[in-house]
Amino acid sequence: MRMNTTLVINSKGGSGKTTIATNLASYFAANGIPAALMDYDPQGSSLNWLQVRGQVGEKIYGANAAPQKGGRIRSVEMFIPANTQQLILDAPAGASGLLLQEILRRPDCIVVPVAPSAIDIHATAHFIRELLLVGKIRARSVRLAVVANRVRSSMPVYQPLERFLNSLGVPFLTRICDSDAYLTAAETGLGIFEMGESAATERQEFLPIAEWVAQRKPAPQDGNIIELTRPRWSPRSRPQPQFAAGPQSVSGQP
Ligand SMILES: Nc1ncnc2c1ncn2[C@@H]1O[C@H](COP(=O)(O)OP(=O)(O)O)[C@@H](O)[C@H]1O
Ligand SMILES: [Mg+2]
Repeated sequence: MRMNTTLVINSKGGSGKTTIATNLASYFAANGIPAALMDYDPQGSSLNWLQVRGQVGEKIYGANAAPQKGGRIRSVEMFIPANTQQLILDAPAGASGLLLQEILRRPDCIVVPVAPSAIDIHATAHFIRELLLVGKIRARSVRLAVVANRVRSSMPVYQPLERFLNSLGVPFLTRICDSDAYLTAAETGLGIFEMGESAATERQEFLPIAEWVAQRKPAPQDGNIIELTRPRWSPRSRPQPQFAAGPQSVSGQP
């Protein structure tokens, strides 16, 4: 079976790249699908998580793709086992120029996590434009989707981003809540799909990413992006978020 490669990227640090990359890899591993994580970040957070993981959970192969000092060749560190079916690339913050071009050569699909602040949304809109231009990902049929991460119920600043993505036909997959489960997962080398009932809500929110990556479910189509300003869960099962959103400007509308 052909390997599917997924890049998790945003120019902003702290947007949740490593969190999404590690949980995605552990989702596949937990489902018996040979998975590997390739870490392009010199901070090596994904590889650290794999080290903590050790013998816990299903094996996930780790590869180091971070630029080496002195231009050392990375080919050995970048080895991926031939039976890998899902390869997840964890990008560094601020990748640009040649490194960005190199990273963008590999993926079949790209997931962009964005934190719900006006500054992050603004920066992400610019970054997506760069991906489309520099990466020419449309011409290469690379699939691209955005995920809202660290959403708090009082923080619904999504309308401008939704409009921006809608105009580009880029789907918005899901909103991931700000949750201690992700901190526990990071500390223990596990993923939310390998944790108990305490992470059930997180799994439900995360699943659309895994399904989109595995292409089991297509993303919402152009012009039919899920409305993130409304809760996707039943108001009876979850508290009703307090939305204060007013349109905020995302510059550079297409
Ligand atoms: N949904 C979330 N809920 C709680 N903490 C999160 C969430 N997403 C990320 N974090 C935490 O925020 C910090 C930055 O996330 P990280 O995934 O490392 O971002 P990036 O790789 O983009 O720099 C980490 O400490 C991580 O555990
Ligand atoms: Mg990271």
